[in-house]
Amino acid sequence: MNSVNKFEESFKIFFNADVAFSFWKGRVALYAILKALNVGKEDEVILPGYTCVMDINPIKYLGAKPVYIDIEPNTFNMNVDMFEGKITSKTKVIIAQHTYGYVCDMDRILSIAQKHNIPVIEDCCLCVGSTYKGKLAGTFGKAAYFSFQWNKPFTTGLGGMAITSDNVLAERIEEICKLQLVQPSFKEKMMLLAQLMVYRAFIYPETTTMAQSFFRFLTKKGIVVGSSSTCEFEPEMEKDFFKAMSSIQAGTGIRQLDKLEKNIAHRRQMAELYDELLSQNGWPTRNYNKEIMNPVMVRYPVRIKEKDRAIQQAASAGIELGTWFECPLHPIETPLEKYDYKIGICPEAEKAAKETVNLPLHPRVSEKTVKKTVDFITKFNQA
Ligand SMILES: Cc1ncc(COP(=O)(O)O)c(C=O)c1O
Repeated sequence: MNSVNKFEESFKIFFNADVAFSFWKGRVALYAILKALNVGKEDEVILPGYTCVMDINPIKYLGAKPVYIDIEPNTFNMNVDMFEGKITSKTKVIIAQHTYGYVCDMDRILSIAQKHNIPVIEDCCLCVGSTYKGKLAGTFGKAAYFSFQWNKPFTTGLGGMAITSDNVLAERIEEICKLQLVQPSFKEKMMLLAQLMVYRAFIYPETTTMAQSFFRFLTKKGIVVGSSSTCEFEPEMEKDFFKAMSSIQAGTGIRQLDKLEKNIAHRRQMAELYDELLSQNGWPTRNYNKEIMNPVMVRYPVRIKEKDRAIQQAASAGIELGTWFECPLHPIETPLEKYDYKIGICPEAEKAAKETVNLPLHPRVSEKTVKKTVDFITKFNQA
């Protein structure tokens, strides 16, 4: 068995799914699922208006229309009270995005979706290991997809996975992959390998913000393989978009999966430390229903005054403050109108984008990092 098959095998076992399909990126996994569900022209796909533009591109590539639902402010997830009203005869799929690691209200989403006979797929790009009523996020819908890009719960540099236990859907995805999936080029694989090496050697909480800005700049220039090259801010599909995962990514993925339980325990422990220190310093802490949800946070969201200034000061102080989501369809460069988003349609999402930064929880974060980060934002807020 090659490393790509091995990674798929271990991944599907972790989620107790029947099949897993790996891809170059998470958005490619989403594209495969949507295409296999026959999403096409005139169809509508419901998702939260607090997401990443790369999540919308596959919908647009297939000629369908994204329909945005505002979020509820505590968990940043789709406001379920609002979503039934947006279902029409054209609604083909509902994407339940589990934001920051908080699981959506799956009972309500599934019951509304079933009433209208619409499949739900779960966006687990920011959520690995969280449970809802004791069940893992990613095991509720017809399919789920994951991202292993730099900022995600675990990283293979770039990477994506789709899982499903629906035989018909799995067969369709397999057929589409056989016909259309292209292999990454030698150059792309080597660039990714070099980036993984740089990441392992140099990227720590103190250096992340600077490295990210530089990396984004290089990506836009096409000098490195990143998650957002300029052409991906246009809803037009590049000819080699539908790309497979390389063995470099899969090898890293297998090693990351072996460490996943440790990664999850670390994230839980650091999030609890943030809860404790933030509350000691007068900040509101995470607000979710503890009786039904046990989240594993990818990052810890906090609302702060003067977000832009906070981010700038944090970067010079070597504090890793995450900026996403910078606008309802992150990042800030997204031409919203090309993606059918009109300012004002998701006011809570727009407010969250203006106010929210996120604090690091990844495996390189220590108790000292958490303390320094809380100290920084507290002093910033008091200034
Ligand atoms: C919520 C969400 N879904 C999907 C994606 C797409 O994942 P990828 O970058 O691996 O294509 C991202 C971000 O990158 C994301 O934040």
